[in-house]
Amino acid sequence: MSEQQLFKVTIDNITIEVAPGTSILEAARKIGGDVAPPAMCFYSKLKGSGGKCRTCLVEVSKGSEKDPRPMPKLVASCRTTVMDGMEVKNITSERVVDARAGVVEMLLINHPLDCPICDQAGECHLQDLSYEHGREGTRYEFQRRTFEKHDLGEYIQLHMTRCILCYRCVFTADQLTNKREHGILSRGDHAEIATYIEKSLDNDFIGNVIDVCPVGALTDRTFRFKNRVWFLKPVDAHRDCPTCSGQVTLWYRGDEVFRVTARKDEWGEVESLPDGTTAWICNTCRFDKKHTGDWVIEGPRKISRHSVISQGHYVGMHKPEETIEKVLHGRKPRLMMDIHSVSQVNQPNIDLSQIEGPAHSDDFNPALPKKD
Ligand code: SF4
Ligand code: FES
Repeated sequence: MSEQQLFKVTIDNITIEVAPGTSILEAARKIGGDVAPPAMCFYSKLKGSGGKCRTCLVEVSKGSEKDPRPMPKLVASCRTTVMDGMEVKNITSERVVDARAGVVEMLLINHPLDCPICDQAGECHLQDLSYEHGREGTRYEFQRRTFEKHDLGEYIQLHMTRCILCYRCVFTADQLTNKREHGILSRGDHAEIATYIEKSLDNDFIGNVIDVCPVGALTDRTFRFKNRVWFLKPVDAHRDCPTCSGQVTLWYRGDEVFRVTARKDEWGEVESLPDGTTAWICNTCRFDKKHTGDWVIEGPRKISRHSVISQGHYVGMHKPEETIEKVLHGRKPRLMMDIHSVSQVNQPNIDLSQIEGPAHSDDFNPALPKKD
């Protein structure tokens, strides 16, 4: 059988070869780093996702080897497949940078800036996106739309005001459960995620909507307001679960497990298992197994996103080189601490509590005339 022909694509001046049918976004992710456009709605593990948020816009400066004309408009990289010889600009395009700032401004029109009280803060893709690609202010002057919070079943709360209508949770419910009861109702400014007649979502895998939601619209009711994520230590663990892969991340503070989530990869998506399936986790693992004894601990989780969570995380930490001995030509720093032999300041025989009022240099240097 002949080998599959690969397509050459150049993104931000880096060329790679990918299989036909690969999207520009997935090709860029193979290169990695800043070359990969941000994605708020595309989720590689959910069929049909993408094409909703426009954060992944890129400029195609050369269509293909056969037809080198540039594409006139910016295109959604998650929904545009590569062509052989295609040339794409992401962060190297001023048009893209400007358009992306506009998209962020648009997404933030109705999104409340309540990060200080939002459980998603620290792992919110919209928060990261607005820091990295947004503008400082907004030009929007009208009243923002707001919704009542409501509980989707026992474990999940929907705060629709924060929703950016990415559809990920709808695809998750559709593809992971056999009984989808929620979707996007109405259109335009009135569009909202809702359950039909407030039905509760009690499917075994419905908790995964919390993991796919890029913002704080769907949150874990067993964890809400209990702790900030950057105070927690993520630890990989597994159990022999009859329903799911049982491969999770436990989020500890001290000895207490505050929450259980699926394991996420560098793009913030639930990881794939070695057999190619996705490591979605069941509600029992997520909501009911919150004791260390329920799990076999594997070790600290490496948080690869440049998120604030990784600030409290010690895997792969590089300690700065100790240079003080080098600067002192081999002398140990503790010698420097013995200042009494070279300085009159803070002599141990002077009792500060015996000095009336604030101490002065003449209190330490008897050779100086005393001030009255
Ligand atoms: S609730 Fe979250 S996952 Fe669902 S559409 Fe809104 S932002 Fe997307
Ligand atoms: S990630 Fe491509 S449109 Fe949302």
